Amino acid sequence: MTTTRHTSERSGDAEAPRLCVVTFGCQMNQYDSSLVEGKFRKQGYATTDRVEDADVVLFNTCSVRDHAEERTWSWVGELKKLKQDNPELVIGLMGCMAQRVEEEAFKRAAHVDLVAGTRQFHHLPRMVEEVRERRDEPGRRLEDQRVAYTDMASEVAFDRAGEEWSGGMHAYLAVMRGCDLSCTYCVVPHTRGGVQSRPIADLVAEARWYAEQGVKVLTLLGQTVNSYGEDFPAPSAGEARGTGRQGRPGLGDLLRALQEVEGLERIRLITLHPSYATRALAEAIRDCDKVDRFLPLPAQAGSDPVLKRMKRGYTLDLYRRRADTLREVVPDLELGSDWIVGFCGETDEDFAGSQGFLEEQGFVVNYIFKYDERPGTKAVGYPDDIEVAVKKERHRMLMETAERVQRARFEGWRGRTERVFVESVSTRDASIVLGRSVHGLPVSLPGDASFVGTYRAVMLDECTAYGLSGRVAEAPAGA
Ligand code: SAH
Ligand code: SF4
Ligand code: F3S
Repeated sequence: MTTTRHTSERSGDAEAPRLCVVTFGCQMNQYDSSLVEGKFRKQGYATTDRVEDADVVLFNTCSVRDHAEERTWSWVGELKKLKQDNPELVIGLMGCMAQRVEEEAFKRAAHVDLVAGTRQFHHLPRMVEEVRERRDEPGRRLEDQRVAYTDMASEVAFDRAGEEWSGGMHAYLAVMRGCDLSCTYCVVPHTRGGVQSRPIADLVAEARWYAEQGVKVLTLLGQTVNSYGEDFPAPSAGEARGTGRQGRPGLGDLLRALQEVEGLERIRLITLHPSYATRALAEAIRDCDKVDRFLPLPAQAGSDPVLKRMKRGYTLDLYRRRADTLREVVPDLELGSDWIVGFCGETDEDFAGSQGFLEEQGFVVNYIFKYDERPGTKAVGYPDDIEVAVKKERHRMLMETAERVQRARFEGWRGRTERVFVESVSTRDASIVLGRSVHGLPVSLPGDASFVGTYRAVMLDECTAYGLSGRVAEAPAGA
């Protein structure tokens, strides 16, 4: 959980109403929180990190595993007392859990005033006003003072004109939202809806805006970011053709457009799906030197029967072929993966398949999760038959495999001189700076604040399972 710290300074006059956004979940939620904060600031609000100081508290919620929801409810519960002491306080839920539970939220926590779904949160300032107006209306019962906007048919709409960015050098940009796939364990298609991509011209305009505000590293977000453009109409005869399906604009075209944005130095991607990993995307990565040669391309499991039950839409062999195509075009590409252990019916042999596939593909970054049954998903119909202790043990074992493989992968980079983009001074040691190689690999090196925001040629001489360290090379290597 993170509260978005970069916006904590009070803006404008001391009497301005104060907003506190508490963010759970993925990078998309962090991005959405920053959009909401920007919108409220334009309406004269100041932002704060402290719920105790706020006039409006919004929880940006996640639903991907039960644990994420439970943590949110416990935070929400803590505000009950605050609301008793300050009845003027407005408390709202937004994000995936808000979309999943909708008005049920009011039953679970009577002190919650509003619920904004994943395609409605651009209305939040108006919703807060609505709550206040309803409170002021004489005779309105508490139940009728609440406001919920959860329609998923609309599009998320934000206009950042007139906003000021105070988030530093790194920013997120959601290029698409939603997911058209239906992995049987996953709640995301229910909470985020189907694919909605933003036009390339709009994204370039927002990227320019960021670059003008000093942003140098942009991470492009999407639930399946490489399905970007799938929802656009295919061009008719005579119209310009892109590199997506049937000539639609695709992620590769977007990367080529963003490569031209002046001031932007690095472009990253989160998260890809193997089904949309195309040669055209690989070619764009090859041609655009601002784009990290790293792709998070979750395999989830290393067994065909499990992948089939998960309805991932590929076999191991198909995954291999997609990864081979990417590596054929970009030979130095690094891949990362997410894994679910203990999915319904996962045998010891299936699990060994995950260990084997992680090793075979040499994933340099791995996130491992214990399967957690989610309401409304298809897998609810399968027996959740792997005991908690077994899930835990498989989690531990796959972590062990991952750390060994990651370390070996980083070892392969030792002794080489690579371009590193430096992003910050270490908070633990002011004589160390932190950055990433153009392969997205974390690198630390001796340096000072003057390094931040610049490329350095770094001789990589040490590594752990989680990154590399080095020193500035005598001779620059293409830096
Ligand atoms: N769109 C991404 C994943 C989004 S959810 C993709 O298709 O890969 C982030 C990660 O959470 C997933 O990659 C998966 O590993 C994990 N996850 C999703 N649902 C889960 C569940 N029900 N139990 C455990 N882990 C889950
Ligand atoms: Fe969920 Fe699968 Fe869509 Fe990823 S691709 S968001 S795991 S349904
Ligand atoms: Fe969670 Fe929704 Fe992101 S479920 S992981 S906040 S897409």
